[in-house]
Amino acid sequence: MKTKLPYLIVILLAAIATVLVLLLQQNIKDHKEEAKQVVFKIANLTELTVDPAEWGKNFPRQYDSYKRTAERTGTRYGGSSDTLSTDKLVQDPRLKTIFAGYAFSVDYRARRGHAYMLSDQRETKRIQLPFHQTGACLQCHASNATIYRKKGIESGAPGTIQDPLISIIGYSQLMKGFEIIGKLPYEEATKLADQPVACVDCHDPQSLQLRVTKPAFLVGIRAFADSNTPAPQVPSIVKWRAGNRSIPYDPNELASRQEMRTLVCGQCHVEYYCGPKTTLFYPWNNGLKAEQIEAFYDSYKFGDGHRFFDWRHADTGAETLKAQHPEFEMWSQGIHARSGVACADCHMPYRREGAIKISDHWVRSPLLNIANACQVCHHYPEDEIKGRVDAIQDMNHDLLNRSEDAMVDLINAIAAAQAASWKEAELKDAREFQRKAQWRVDFINSENSMGFHAPQEAARILGEAIDFARKGQIELLKPKK
Ligand code: HEC
Ligand code: HEC
Ligand code: HEC
Ligand code: HEC
Ligand code: HEC
Repeated sequence: MKTKLPYLIVILLAAIATVLVLLLQQNIKDHKEEAKQVVFKIANLTELTVDPAEWGKNFPRQYDSYKRTAERTGTRYGGSSDTLSTDKLVQDPRLKTIFAGYAFSVDYRARRGHAYMLSDQRETKRIQLPFHQTGACLQCHASNATIYRKKGIESGAPGTIQDPLISIIGYSQLMKGFEIIGKLPYEEATKLADQPVACVDCHDPQSLQLRVTKPAFLVGIRAFADSNTPAPQVPSIVKWRAGNRSIPYDPNELASRQEMRTLVCGQCHVEYYCGPKTTLFYPWNNGLKAEQIEAFYDSYKFGDGHRFFDWRHADTGAETLKAQHPEFEMWSQGIHARSGVACADCHMPYRREGAIKISDHWVRSPLLNIANACQVCHHYPEDEIKGRVDAIQDMNHDLLNRSEDAMVDLINAIAAAQAASWKEAELKDAREFQRKAQWRVDFINSENSMGFHAPQEAARILGEAIDFARKGQIELLKPKK
């Protein structure tokens, strides 16, 4: 009897080990099955499937996080924590002086989640009388890839909606619809749309591959590719430039997956011209830096032959420029772009759900999500990461404050000279300095990261803004001839 005990123990241990191995195998199998079930294929998705809820049947996890963009979030400088979107004009009254005579002096609020983009646009006073806006405003505030194509086909563009979007035929449908809808009065155009940015705007419905569908972006990025200014942040442009360029640059054909993780956001988070005088465009023909865009605007002539300007300043008469959210442009000048870190790496980081890794479609401030957004690359504590961001943003905020003060001083000085009946010719140089300073202050003020995307570049631009504003004042101190 005694001699059999070790055998029994061995057999028992072997049996337990076998059961454990089997359990482990089952567990792995379950996880693999679970991972495979990322796609349930319940709904048949096509180019006509605009409603994200339909896509949600196949991709419930991404859809759930997408819906969360309706939740209110706020950080020190980001988002909007109030029940109503923060009124920037109350928060910073200098903006009323800076934008005098322009729609932004009437209503200007903090951005919030993607879920609100269409309703916030419909509600802003900037689209109400006395301001006239066009359907071009919709390009970045609605799901419109399908709407543009349908309208394009209706108006004589070749092919059908079944044609692939990324093809000569698909693009010509898209462009035609974009031009027609862009010219409609806003009130009419907005009736055609019923969703904020949706799955179909960033994904091919069959392959799910990322794609860019905003017409002005496709045209703008092509102009940037043609510009020959350095483009290390978009390697596929560098590669395309080295070739024979027989076919225009097309990100949908040439950009890598990692580049697309930025370009889908660059479709909308960029500087643009959207007014009654010409088709919506992105001013990238000379490059993406503040002074390259300024040079393009300075050389641009409207149909009536007049130099480009956004509005005539009510207090000074200067022909001024308004910048809007140049996130893609500023990211382009920063260390993260240089290191190949995409918008989605920080704003849509991977998240684990069981065995499945998904991209978080709750697009928001990464500071609400530092573990997933930053700590995958920066292996130091959350507080330390936050501390570094705070330091950058606070310094930027201080410099921005000084720039706005300088801006207001110059505006008051020009207004005083006008009131003292200075001649037009005597005011000219000071007004030109206002245009230059205004463009730079606004480039950083309207950029939404409070300097984070490219700290040194932001400081450089603000330094120039202060210099130009003070030079404008000095101009007015010179004795009159
Ligand atoms: C390395 C990480 C990182 C990358 C890459 C990045 N961002 Fe950001 N972004 C941030 C941080 C940090 C903030 C500041 C958030 C805050 O103040 O709450 C920010 C702020 C923003 C905001 C304002 C957010 C808010 O809640 O108000 C927008 C919009 C934005 N980024 C868009 C972009 C776009 C578009 C790109 C790519 C072209 C991009 N970001 C690339 C980290 C990043
Ligand atoms: C169709 C145009 C469009 C695209 C594409 C787009 N955005 Fe936005 N984004 C907007 C608009 C418009 C708002 C402001 C909505 C509002 O205030 O009602 C916004 C707001 C945001 C905010 C602020 C969120 C908050 O809670 O305050 C962040 C961050 C942001 N976008 C990042 C991104 C990133 C990253 C991408 C790419 C993955 C992206 N966006 C793609 C148009 C777009
Ligand atoms: C090139 C894309 C683009 C176009 C064109 C565009 N927007 Fe936006 N808009 C955005 C983005 C991105 C945001 C979020 C970032 C921000 O608020 O700075 C935004 C934010 C807004 C907001 C919320 C914050 C605020 O400024 O009060 C309103 C309202 C708005 N846009 C109205 C309009 C109107 C009106 C037009 C047409 C004149 C227009 N937009 C054209 C991209 C665009
Ligand atoms: C503003 C652009 C944008 C919109 C809108 C968008 N996505 Fe995505 N989606 C992305 C990006 C960026 C990725 C990451 C892709 C990659 O890394 O290749 C992604 C990835 C995915 C993936 C691949 C798996 C994963 O999670 O990485 C699925 C599935 C997906 N999205 C479904 C959806 C669905 C469903 C919707 C609508 C409810 C949607 N997406 C809306 C940008 C977007
Ligand atoms: C995919 C990797 C990656 C992610 C995600 C990432 N970073 Fe970085 N970060 C880098 C790299 C690479 C550098 C450059 C440092 C170097 O080359 O040594 C950098 C640099 C920085 C710097 C120094 C900036 C400067 O101008 O010198 C700060 C601050 C920073 N990151 C903060 C963040 C924050 C905050 C987040 C999350 C919102 C974040 N990073 C997300 C890779 C990443």
